[in-house]
Amino acid sequence: MPPQMTRLMYIFGLLIALYVVVRWVAKPESFYWYGHYRGAALAEIAGLEIEHSPPGACSDCHSDKAAENRAGPHSSTSCQTCHGAGEAHVNEPTAANIALPVVSETCVLCHERNHARPDWFPQVKSRAHSSGMACDECHLVHNPGEFQ
Ligand code: HEC
Ligand code: HEC
Ligand code: HEC
Ligand code: HEC
Repeated sequence: MPPQMTRLMYIFGLLIALYVVVRWVAKPESFYWYGHYRGAALAEIAGLEIEHSPPGACSDCHSDKAAENRAGPHSSTSCQTCHGAGEAHVNEPTAANIALPVVSETCVLCHERNHARPDWFPQVKSRAHSSGMACDECHLVHNPGEFQ
């Protein structure tokens, strides 16, 4: 065997040894308990605090808003889409632990005309459409198909 082959074999041997050592040091203990992921991650994720309430949780106390929402074009838009995660508020309702979105920022998030949105989705050029008025001066916030 030519001498350069022996040297190459040493190098490959070293690389394989390095791989074995790094794998032994770096592999988390629970890797491959169940599959190609860290088994302990399951318990960690299950232990995370729940932030969102199940759909319908808000209507127990805000049945008026829920009824408006259900009757209008936003019936498929969940309360928590606009009001943010609500589990803390559901468990202990105060005004401080739920977001009260600002109308002038909220509606345009979804409805400002944007060519990246599908054509079927209702969009407006808000400046021209609302002529400087706030959206809720005409539309009801929780049933925007109806007008003030
Ligand atoms: C157990 C009853 C209860 C549930 C369930 C509940 N709320 Fe409330 N909510 C209240 C009460 C009571 C207040 C008034 C708190 C105050 O003014 O101190 C309130 C106030 C609010 C406010 C006004 C906050 C402000 O800054 O004025 C919003 C918005 C709100 N809730 C949204 C929600 C949403 C969204 C959900 C579902 C994720 C929800 N609530 C579920 C009882 C509830
Ligand atoms: C499209 C966004 C959107 C959705 C969906 C939505 N809200 Fe609201 N909600 C708002 C905005 C914006 C305000 C603030 C209105 C204002 O400032 O007058 C508000 C205000 C409120 C308030 C305070 C009302 C008041 O008069 O003080 C409550 C309570 C509330 N929403 C409950 C709900 C519940 C319950 C649902 C689901 C059934 C829901 N909202 C769905 C945008 C939304
Ligand atoms: C999270 C995204 C979102 C936000 C925020 C939002 N909307 Fe909507 N809106 C929708 C969706 C989804 C529909 C239903 C579209 C459909 O299925 O045709 C809709 C429908 C509507 C419609 C009915 C349009 C039609 O001709 O059918 C109006 C009007 C409207 N929204 C006004 C508002 C106003 C006013 C606000 C602010 C208070 C608002 N929207 C905030 C998502 C949103
Ligand atoms: C001066 C009253 C007025 C104001 C302010 C207003 N709207 Fe409207 N909006 C209307 C009327 C009336 C309609 C239904 C007739 C039409 O399509 O023009 C409508 C329709 C819509 C539609 C449905 C458009 C479609 O193509 O189906 C959306 C979305 C909408 N408005 C969003 C908004 C948003 C977002 C704001 C705030 C930036 C807003 N509107 C402010 C009166 C108003």
